Amino acid sequence: VELASLAPSAFNLQPWRLIAVRSPEGRERLWRLAQQQPKVLEAPVTLIVVGDRGAWQGDNPAWGELAAMLGGAEAVKPYLAMAEALYGATTERRIKFAESNAALLAMSVVYAARCFGVEGHFMSGIDFAGIKQEFALDEDEEVVMLLALGYAEGGKVLYPRRKRQSYDELVEEV
Ligand SMILES: Cc1cc2nc3c(=O)[nH]c(=O)nc-3n(C[C@H](O)[C@H](O)[C@H](O)COP(=O)(O)O)c2cc1C
Repeated sequence: VELASLAPSAFNLQPWRLIAVRSPEGRERLWRLAQQQPKVLEAPVTLIVVGDRGAWQGDNPAWGELAAMLGGAEAVKPYLAMAEALYGATTERRIKFAESNAALLAMSVVYAARCFGVEGHFMSGIDFAGIKQEFALDEDEEVVMLLALGYAEGGKVLYPRRKRQSYDELVEEV
């Protein structure tokens, strides 16, 4: 997680947090709200990836840190106004802000975990509102996805890698 926390975010606002669901009781509660997908019970930990739609606001400690870097609160004001316009102006922008940044953190966790031989599996086939309520997220917070983490069981046969788009299908060069 510490490696993954190097993930970039807009204005370094880091509009995310992770809830590590590790206890058997917590995993059971989550499993019920994740369409009873077996990996939530099988994996030793599943992360709830949380995005914060309100993290562009002035109370985010990242602004204080930027002020210290720039030599005062006055210097931060234009950036704060920019962040409000870009990420706080509409509901759509707030959701995009929270989800795009938190998704980069989530993928970074998977790559970092792989460095330690740990597999990761995302889930969005879940009850977002139910998990938000069950795990007491704040009003501005939303569940972005779940990420089950654990060591692969030896001898288990995985589905073959699904077909991916080719460069030409994927990229439009302009
Ligand atoms: C955001 C996201 C949500 C996903 N949700 C689920 C899920 O709820 N259940 C599941 O079994 N797989 C889920 N997956 C896994 C995808 O089905 C899988 O990554 C895709 O089929 C490609 O397979 P591969 O990653 O094994 O190559 C999800 C993947 C992502 C990125």
